[in-house]
Amino acid sequence: MSTHIAAASGQIAPIVLFPGDPLRAKWIAENFLEGAELYSEVRGMLGFTGSWQGHRVSVQGSGMGQPSMSIYANELFREYDVQTLVRVGSCGALTEKVGMRDIIIANGACTDSGINRIRFHGQDYAPVADFGLLRRAVEATERMHLEHAVHVGLLFSGDQFYNTRPELTEPLVQHGALAVEMETSALYTLAAFYGRRALSICTVSDHLVTHEETTALEREQSFGDMIRIALEAATAV
Ligand code: HPA
Repeated sequence: MSTHIAAASGQIAPIVLFPGDPLRAKWIAENFLEGAELYSEVRGMLGFTGSWQGHRVSVQGSGMGQPSMSIYANELFREYDVQTLVRVGSCGALTEKVGMRDIIIANGACTDSGINRIRFHGQDYAPVADFGLLRRAVEATERMHLEHAVHVGLLFSGDQFYNTRPELTEPLVQHGALAVEMETSALYTLAAFYGRRALSICTVSDHLVTHEETTALEREQSFGDMIRIALEAATAV
């Protein structure tokens, strides 16, 4: 039992899929894991453990934004000895190079957040993905017949969903940022701190250039591809 997760020690698998939405965690447990059992519902942030192709796998909601996600990532790494944490989330495309429902595998993340500035005393740190996980995720996509494009590139982890200064994102896009979400920069930093593996895979759910949005059914289908990529990358050790 940690402060925000009600699992006993050993109830959480060394591999955890990490969606923002706790109901998405339930959907993943019900649709992808065998024998999934709920281990925590503190604050409604559901967590389940089951198995996928013979591997024990957990799925834990993280909530939205780096402060919420960091609470769960810290506790999973520190209290439950989690070795592999794979975010499966949604993102908003920042460039026409990226289409609706495309999948972005983040090799790194930039941010406007103060969290890393505090941790690194104002210096710039470059949060990056675990290379082995990244490589296995890309290899998994090459074996799959995916309907939508897969991009390996930079995410922008913004602190505000309702961004009051969108013009500040433009130089980041000019330097390669593909899409905005709200968690990856702190996730990669925490994984580096604890010496564990992390990867962030996001499906484009909305487009900040073309202003398209996905329907609930489209989101569910494209999320399925992302979950399969995450499970293959995390379990193929
Ligand atoms: N902004 C921030 N986070 C997001 C978005 C967005 O447009 N879409 C999905 N996650």
